Amino acid sequence: MEKKVFLISGGSSGIGLAIASDLVKEGHRVVSLSRSSEKIDRAMVEMPDLAKDIDFITGDISRKEDAARVVEYLSEKYGVLHGLVNNAGVLTKGTIETISVEDWQFTLDVNLTGPYILTKTLLPLLRNAGGASVVNISSVAGLKPGTSVAYSVSKAGLDMLTRFLAGDLGPYNIRVNSVNPGLVRTHIHMDNKVFENKDAYEEMLAGAQKRYPIGRIGKPEDISNVVRFLLSDAASWITGSIVTADGGVMVENDLIPPK
Ligand SMILES: NC(=O)c1ccc[n+]([C@@H]2O[C@H](COP(=O)([O-])OP(=O)(O)OC[C@H]3O[C@@H](n4cnc5c(N)ncnc54)[C@H](OP(=O)(O)O)[C@@H]3O)[C@@H](O)[C@H]2O)c1
Repeated sequence: MEKKVFLISGGSSGIGLAIASDLVKEGHRVVSLSRSSEKIDRAMVEMPDLAKDIDFITGDISRKEDAARVVEYLSEKYGVLHGLVNNAGVLTKGTIETISVEDWQFTLDVNLTGPYILTKTLLPLLRNAGGASVVNISSVAGLKPGTSVAYSVSKAGLDMLTRFLAGDLGPYNIRVNSVNPGLVRTHIHMDNKVFENKDAYEEMLAGAQKRYPIGRIGKPEDISNVVRFLLSDAASWITGSIVTADGGVMVENDLIPPK
């Protein structure tokens, strides 16, 4: 199998760590970009065998300088990039009445401007691959209002970025797709202080599960399996798609009895 080079933003935790680990398992070169060393240390504890083979770089996807540093690193080391997963994201609470302008801006900076900056900056390396795949990790909250106003709007914007870039980059044989997960158990809710404590978080998960026709909320592997397919040549005719991986929550209706 051809060994490829992938950049996963936010590869130190949750869904990003599952994607990065899967690719490492297949023998590919995987570079992750995330901000804190604490989460990298946590990944080393959670997945010691696989995380040790992920090349962790620290930096913020919403900062042009950090993206430029990653390009420099990848250019010197590999000179090519076969796949980019814009996975890093943050969650902020609030309605229009409660969310601060600062939190709104922060959410859009990371969840929407970050993928724009990374994709734009990495474009020359993606073009060098002669065929590449970009996967944006969006959310069902981008398809129907949910979670919080800033988060939903950032993910809806990301889906339009996916569609737009699929058209723009198709002529370079660079495919761009979104994967939109439903609720997945990761660190995102507690790390972003969306719940007061672990009990409140578990209570939310138990309540939410009843709305999922498949009968459970997601695991990171439920998402990484789809991403791996979209990154592969088996998906070579798929671009501009918004792919939900959500246990059916988007088709939930009154006729589905609560479990
Ligand atoms: N879990 C869910 O229920 C769910 C549902 C739908 C969609 N999603 C989406 O899935 C993606 C992954 O979420 P997750 O649940 O796996 O979250 P997670 O466990 O909190 O992981 C998020 C990762 O992103 C990194 N990150 C955050 N802000 C960053 C920034 N500005 N620059 C670089 N890295 C940054 C984090 O590391 P640092 O904080 O150290 O930077 C961490 O590695 C997100 O885009 C999220 O919106 C998640």
